[in-house]
Amino acid sequence: MIGLYDALGRPLLSLLEPENAHHLAIKTLRLAPLPNRSQDDALLAVRAFGLNFPNPVGMAAGFDKHAEVPDALLRVGFGFVEIGTVTPLPQPGNPRPRLFRLPPDEGVINRLGFNSEGADAVLRRLAMRVGAGGIVGVNVGANKDSADRIDDYVRQIDMFAPVASYFTCNISSPNTPGLRDLQQGRVFDELLARVMEARARMNRKAGTTPVLIKIAPDLTLSELDDVVGAARRHRVDGMMIGNTTVLRPAWLRDRETAHEPGGLSGRPLFALATRMLAETYVRVENAFPLVGVGGIDSGETTLAKIRAGACLVQLYSALVFHGFGLVSRIKRSLVDTLRSGQYAGIGDLVGADAAAMTAEPWPE
Ligand SMILES: Cc1cc2nc3c(=O)[nH]c(=O)nc-3n(C[C@H](O)[C@H](O)[C@H](O)COP(=O)(O)O)c2cc1C
Repeated sequence: MIGLYDALGRPLLSLLEPENAHHLAIKTLRLAPLPNRSQDDALLAVRAFGLNFPNPVGMAAGFDKHAEVPDALLRVGFGFVEIGTVTPLPQPGNPRPRLFRLPPDEGVINRLGFNSEGADAVLRRLAMRVGAGGIVGVNVGANKDSADRIDDYVRQIDMFAPVASYFTCNISSPNTPGLRDLQQGRVFDELLARVMEARARMNRKAGTTPVLIKIAPDLTLSELDDVVGAARRHRVDGMMIGNTTVLRPAWLRDRETAHEPGGLSGRPLFALATRMLAETYVRVENAFPLVGVGGIDSGETTLAKIRAGACLVQLYSALVFHGFGLVSRIKRSLVDTLRSGQYAGIGDLVGADAAAMTAEPWPE
């Protein structure tokens, strides 16, 4: 079914304006008669921040911003789905066009700017699926015009705790001016203090809901020292590395599109994001687990993220070029690797190359 969807749908989607193609993909997932969630090989199971993941491959934030199709995405084979970014109040985001493909580079540039239907609408949808099972995380952000951005994160943790498997605080989108400043110094410290206080408050009412922090791959290493130090002090449940990059590698082939402002993702992000993941892993010293995101498009790139320090991964951009069949291909490849190396599970490989990676020349 998923193979058929890819074979018929993808050539058509690639002809459409990217944002229209995205709307059509969501609509198709909503209507497609997908098979029920299938059982994953037990070798792929991962336990992290108190949750049992059937496999380590997650749908990254930004694809299902308004929680329209989380269950369809779980049926496609993802081990977990992250919806959002959600903002407390509805907001339209930036003017279109704001989403661009770079086909020769298998990259994507977006400057959507947190288009969100708002927390109330998303909460209603998630409340309707309570009891459906599967791990569905909620990625929260701040409204562009918010007077107290930190409060936007806190309020949404309060709101979504009963329906979220975990939270991701997105403080790393490049498309909301000033948002990335939340990663800096005292402001970051205050954000973590208030967010972790909300987590503790909600724990008493709704049970434990882990809180993760999603960072930019563009931090300097000294900024990363500070971020990891604060995250460890405040005992966050995990970190995601990372979001899109504002950098443009000199070797991009689609030079014209590369000039579009926004965050770059997909294959051109892989080397930078994987290096930052390894740099984070050596600083975290197993204090909490890491989720590797950025440029995953195969079994090999997934394995590289795991060996750089991730026990879970997420992807988005590669689906534009390779379709949803990629998820099963990655899982098959991981099982083959684990079997042939006689590993007991993903955990045996997490961080195996991290130290060596941090000694390599900085990726161009
Ligand atoms: C169109 C698009 C929209 C995105 N929107 C969000 C978002 O709302 N929140 C977020 O945390 N990340 C967002 N991201 C970033 C992805 O979650 C991911 O971190 C990044 O794209 C790197 O993964 P990839 O190379 O597999 O796409 C978006 C990415 C794309 C391509």
